Amino acid sequence: MPHFLDIHKTPTADLKAMMAQAHAMKAARAGLPKGTPDADQPLAGRMVALVFEKPSTRTRVSFDVGVRQMGGQTLVLSGNDMQLGHGETIADTARVLSRYVDLIMIRTFEESTLLELAEHATVPVINGLTNRTHPCQIMADIQTFEEHRGAIEGKKVVWCGDGNNVCASFLNAAGPFGFDLTFTGPEPLDPEGAFVQAAREAGANVQIERDAFKAVEGADLVVADTWVSMHDPASTRERRHNQLRPYQVNDDLMAAAGDQALFMHCLPAHREEEVTSSVMDGPQSVIFDEAENRLHAQKAILRYCLDV
Ligand code: CP
Ligand code: NVA
Repeated sequence: MPHFLDIHKTPTADLKAMMAQAHAMKAARAGLPKGTPDADQPLAGRMVALVFEKPSTRTRVSFDVGVRQMGGQTLVLSGNDMQLGHGETIADTARVLSRYVDLIMIRTFEESTLLELAEHATVPVINGLTNRTHPCQIMADIQTFEEHRGAIEGKKVVWCGDGNNVCASFLNAAGPFGFDLTFTGPEPLDPEGAFVQAAREAGANVQIERDAFKAVEGADLVVADTWVSMHDPASTRERRHNQLRPYQVNDDLMAAAGDQALFMHCLPAHREEEVTSSVMDGPQSVIFDEAENRLHAQKAILRYCLDV
């Protein structure tokens, strides 16, 4: 019963098999209406709980649609409406949900909540984002890169801005998928040292470069994310904006990267803050393919966890 808690906690061969399956499942559905069931219905008879303690558009809709396409059923639950938000322990919640459903996807704040849920659940648990990581997003991002440019191995990915949860999952993926990662952002917002060290130990070439224009030279992929994440206190907004303004992804930065570079953003984006509309809507941007691929990548993750 494998969980999907983080990319670096999942065997590399399994990650690669999931990626191949995500591509194949997407190709098999090309042009079909979204509600058309997948021919093989691998999740027939399965019940999946989707628990959200933070807002979500993409994660909520892509998991729900993905499960339904594969013949399963979903329960979309808000953590606040559950006893979980009112004092019931995570361990007891895990034991109870495991009696009703075959898999739990959770988006939460502290990573410890995810880990405790996984420890006490008797069904697989998928990480739908914590304050620390967002592995489903990076599976979709790698699928998107491969669609446009072929294998990501040996390619240069440049993360611009806050060294946040999405950045951490890129770091966690760099070793297993064999790409180079350059972080460019202000020192106070560097990614967690433990993730940088682990990525290097996993064989990844990880660089930190304060000058965004130098960082993007020769990039195959430039990535941005919000300057203020859902778990960041609102009081940090002004300071973060001042720190991060030099790292905005705009036409000048993409020109420095070169025409070969793709642009990605997990969304939701704040137009004219971390990225300009000219880049988001420009020829190098693949942001909506990236959003679509949440669906296909997560369907492969669901199948992996349920062994179907
Ligand atoms: N990218 C992402 O996880 O989006 P949502 O917050 O809308 O789920
Ligand atoms: N870093 C962002 C990602 C949202 C999908 C956040 O955690 O709010």
